[in-house]
Amino acid sequence: MSLPVITATALGLVVSLVIVAITAMGFFQSKNHMPVEGRTVLLTGASEGMGRSAALQLAAKGANVIIVSRNVGRLEETLADVKAAAKSPSTQRFTYISADVAEHDYAARVVAEAMAWNGGSAPDIVWCVAGMSTPLLWAMDEGSMAASRRNMDVNYFGAAEMSQAILREWLAPENSTSPQAEPKHIIFTASMLALFAIVGYGPYTPSKWALRGLADTLAMELNLYPDNPVRVHVVYPGTITSPGFARENQTKPAVTVELEKDEPPETPDTVARRSIQGLEAGKYFVTVSFLGELMRCGVMGGSPRNNWFVDTVLGWFIPIIYFFVLRGLNATVLRYARTHGHPSTYSTKK
Ligand SMILES: *[C@@H]1O[C@H](CO)[C@@H](O)[C@H](O)[C@H]1NC(C)=O
Ligand SMILES: *[C@@H]1O[C@H](CO)[C@@H](O)[C@H](O)[C@H]1NC(C)=O
Ligand SMILES: *[C@@H]1O[C@H](CO)[C@@H](O)[C@H](O)[C@H]1NC(C)=O
Repeated sequence: MSLPVITATALGLVVSLVIVAITAMGFFQSKNHMPVEGRTVLLTGASEGMGRSAALQLAAKGANVIIVSRNVGRLEETLADVKAAAKSPSTQRFTYISADVAEHDYAARVVAEAMAWNGGSAPDIVWCVAGMSTPLLWAMDEGSMAASRRNMDVNYFGAAEMSQAILREWLAPENSTSPQAEPKHIIFTASMLALFAIVGYGPYTPSKWALRGLADTLAMELNLYPDNPVRVHVVYPGTITSPGFARENQTKPAVTVELEKDEPPETPDTVARRSIQGLEAGKYFVTVSFLGELMRCGVMGGSPRNNWFVDTVLGWFIPIIYFFVLRGLNATVLRYARTHGHPSTYSTKK
């Protein structure tokens, strides 16, 4: 997509605003809202990509780490890397649990195993990273509905079940502490596509939007438990150069590739680092790029803001930008249709 001049100007304006805001906020936001040293973090989808990078970086900050994924071989390899990254290898503890997040009721077992390993205490932080993406054209591609159910099982239910299993521990009456206690954290991993949808991700995008709906609900529901402080967060990465990206490539429609061609992918290490920075800054919705930050301000609706003033003012500019962006994207899709004919001629539908 090539953005017209006006969009660039509007962007420039917003950039200056953001820079001023970020600089101003920097003076007030030095507190670490998610200390991990000596605490236990459980990550799903942690044997590759962003989850693996996050596990390594949290170990380097002194966390005890439990990594969860399906493949025991890869878990063992990753665990060795996590151990090697530890801040104080003699005191930190690490383990893995093999589980398929798409399986019904997997999470209660994972939490029970994690607690048994952890001397009866639940992990303090749970980060649901496990995810998949199967881009297909919704109407004409073979298997788009099956892919949609599968993406929902992994991306939405995989995280939803884990959040419920861990919240039942954290929020149990016998586990009440005090409103001042260091909060627990449940972190969902969505996608920039949960902030702005484009053609080709019909099977994937709704599963990530669903996480936003659950997080907003929990953010309010958690007020029922003032003596069991828990924070919920949603992280919104863009394209990541991970093994999942290679798998996604196998079904990605050509029109989608064309729409995305100007969005540079980021490495798993970069995305994990920026996510952790956002979590440490106490953000509710965490984005990992400037574009992501603009897109976040464009969807806030009734969601809690990271900063009510900055997010609201930025949000006023977004419709102006989107007017041009959407026209540009629509034009690209129309041009694609004119040059390639009806999708039934190139889709996988028989
Ligand atoms: C919550 O309380 C139960 C029962 O006392 C205990 O077994 C469990 O370890 C506690 N959970 C946490 C998170 O400490
Ligand atoms: C995925 O496809 C894009 C464009 O089609 C290409 O630039 C990228 O290198 C591919 N990535 C992987 C991991 O296959
Ligand atoms: C993009 O295309 C859709 C479908 O034709 C249309 O509803 C929408 O208004 C278009 N958006 C812009 C900004 O032109």
